[in-house]
Parts: sequence; C-alpha cells; structure tokens
Amino acid sequence: MLGGFTRITSVDIKASTRFLSKYWQPLDKRNDLLERQQPAPTRALDCGSVMITGTDRMIITRECIGIGRVTKHLLLKFFDTVDLLEQNDKFLTETKSYMGAEDYQRVGHQFNAGLQDFHPAPGVQYECIWCQWVTGHLTDEDFVQFLVRCKSALSPTDGLIVVKDNTTSSDECDADTTDSSVTRPHWLMLDIFKRAGLEVVCERKQYKMPKGLYPVYMFALK
Ligand SMILES: C[S@@+](CC[C@H](N)C(=O)[O-])C[C@H]1O[C@@H](n2cnc3c(N)ncnc32)[C@H](O)[C@@H]1O
Repeated sequence: MLGGFTRITSVDIKASTRFLSKYWQPLDKRNDLLERQQPAPTRALDCGSVMITGTDRMIITRECIGIGRVTKHLLLKFFDTVDLLEQNDKFLTETKSYMGAEDYQRVGHQFNAGLQDFHPAPGVQYECIWCQWVTGHLTDEDFVQFLVRCKSALSPTDGLIVVKDNTTSSDECDADTTDSSVTRPHWLMLDIFKRAGLEVVCERKQYKMPKGLYPVYMFALK
C-alpha cells in the first residue's frame, strides 16, 4: 500500500538532492574536504513540514505520515540546522518521534505559524528556505509577501529560496475544495516571483513522476 508514496518520495528526494547539490556540498563531503577547518554553520528553513496522505493532492496512498520528511531526508544532509515552519501544532509535537533523536538534535526553531503570518526572527539568516507543496495554500498576495519577507532573511552570500510545487498543464489555476488549495500555472509562479523581486536562478522539472499527477517544478530564487 505504501508503494505509491514511497516511490514518489524517493524520486522527489533524489531530484531535490541533485538540485541542491548544484549549490551546496552535502555535509558528509563538506566535512571530509574541510576536515578541521570549522566552516561556518549553515541553516535552512523547511516551510510546511508535514506530509499527510489522504488529504494531500499529490499522494496516492492514505497511510503514510511524514513529519519533517523534507528536513530528514534532504535538508539535514546539506545544512547543520533546520528550522521548521508548520501551522498545525499537533504535527510539530510529533516531529521527534518521526525523525529520530539523532536527526532531531539538529532541528532548530519550530515555528507554529502559517506562512502568511510568518516573520523570520531578527538576525537569523538562512542559506536555504525550502517551500514544498505548501504554497498552494496561500493567496497570490500572501505568497508574494511571504517571499519578500523570506528574501530579507537569506544569507547575503549564498542564500536561496527553493519553491517546489505542482503546476497546472493549462494556463489556468485549478482549485481543490477538499484541502482549500490552488494549483497555479507555470506562468503565474514566475509572475509571483517577479512581484516579490526575486530572480529565478535555476528551474528544473521533477522527473519520473507517475502519470496523471501535476507536473512538479523546482525553482531556485534569490
Ligand atoms: C502537502 S504537505 C507538504 C509537506 C512537506 N513540504 C513535504 O513535501 O513532505 C503541506 C503541509 O503544509 C502545511 N500547511 C498548509 N497550509 C499552510 C500554511 N498556510 N502555512 C504553513 N503550513 C501550511 C500543512 O499542514 C502540511 O504540513
């Protein structure tokens, strides 16, 4: 029963890993290379951190719950500390048991807020702000303003926002009344990034997604 979800999450994480590798070394390689040089610690923010099957549009099966899935399988491989931003507080309290004690040690702040209300903590700078399968829950204007605030919290040297999300195959938005979300066309994503004053520095389509699902794109923005 978990076959569909496991397959999606595996191809998803592989493609995301390849995408991030364009910009950062995985920690195990970085630590090997730099050995005792004590590189500056890096920090990422995982926005909308819980994968719930059954209510989510892109998932085939209903049983699997991944609390901090992207953090555990992707971001902690590249960054020393990962903060979580999730509006459902019940999920946040279960993060530790899903992630395991070792990975959980490197989870930093857990912000219990909607993206539309989130203001990065003063002084905190992120190398990466990762937003996957969550921006469809925002209005266009909230999405723009969220990106503007995130931009101000990026590391000035190498900070990037990554948006990974479904897009429609047509030029129109698709609304999903079951989870109050919207899937945007590719052009509208680009328009929103532009309105937020962000430049698309890299764009990739997710490969090997099962037929019948929306095309998924990754955008690196700065
Ligand atoms: C489809 S899941 C994606 C989970 C994760 N990014 C992944 O790819 O595994 C959407 C997540 O976003 C959260 N969410 C929905 N609307 C949100 C909002 N406005 N602000 C913050 N989180 C939100 C949901 O509670 C859920 O955890």
